[in-house]
Amino acid sequence: MIKVLVATDKPFAPIAVKGIRQVIEEAGFELVLLEGYTNQDDFVKAIENVDAVVVRSDKTDKAVIDNGKNLKIIVRAGAGYDNIDLQAAKDKGVCVMNTPGQNSNAVAELAFGMMVYYIRNFFNGKSGTELKGKKLGIHAYGAVGKNVARIAKGFGMAVYAFDPFISKEEIEKDGVKCVDSAEELYTHCNFISLHIPANSKTKESINHGLLSLMPTPGVLVNTARAEVIHEADLLKIFEEKKGFAYLSDIEPVNKGEFEARFKGRYFFTPKKMGAQTEEANINAGIAAAKQIVNFIKNGDRTFQVNK
Ligand code: 3PG
Repeated sequence: MIKVLVATDKPFAPIAVKGIRQVIEEAGFELVLLEGYTNQDDFVKAIENVDAVVVRSDKTDKAVIDNGKNLKIIVRAGAGYDNIDLQAAKDKGVCVMNTPGQNSNAVAELAFGMMVYYIRNFFNGKSGTELKGKKLGIHAYGAVGKNVARIAKGFGMAVYAFDPFISKEEIEKDGVKCVDSAEELYTHCNFISLHIPANSKTKESINHGLLSLMPTPGVLVNTARAEVIHEADLLKIFEEKKGFAYLSDIEPVNKGEFEARFKGRYFFTPKKMGAQTEEANINAGIAAAKQIVNFIKNGDRTFQVNK
């Protein structure tokens, strides 16, 4: 019998697991659950005899992949697949997919949750400010960026976007002003929301050169990846611009420095929470399960990312 492992150190909501189980069992496959594990060896062991695996941000490196004796497919229930060694999978003939768009509304909503929390002074009773009328720059206009634009318009913000891979027409049909460079975006906007993937080109690309262009007050919102930020440069910007803040869905490496020196100018979630809603778990988890069934039964490779 085909075995499908769901390996999540940050478990899906129970209602999503129920839906995943239903899809897997209706296909005549067996579900194997490894939830909330803290030891990477547990993942390496659990993958040994399964045919397919669903992961989230779980580190799926060569050691994990090579131990999957029967492994045929890995599906990242989510958007970013920087946690998966694509080459190791390719070398072993293992197909890797993601589930684009399935958790994007949840991530977009968190970006606004953090913005409102910050501009209202963490709800401490002091007078804050509003998003209405402010300029928001969306850095990368994929599924999350699109949702951010939709919500921003509801808040009455002026919305700008930069994405070198998406046409001006596609961006502007959403009522969003498309700009020609990241520099232009950062120069124009008091709020920047990051939605770029983490890869060799984007690593530490949000640096002093870009951030120094931002007007103050300026707020950088990161629901993408910690790795895209040049942390030493960010700390330098904090020193130079008193009205600059950083809101991030994951703690920076130098969290202690922010705590010691820049109180009141940052917010970090202790665990990556952007996609952690029942709806996003159901959407991404069930899409992943269906993609596995379709791949095993029909050879469907839609959403493969390691061609
Ligand atoms: C994604 O890339 O889909 C998001 O960052 C969500 O990651 P998560 O599944 O680990 O919450």
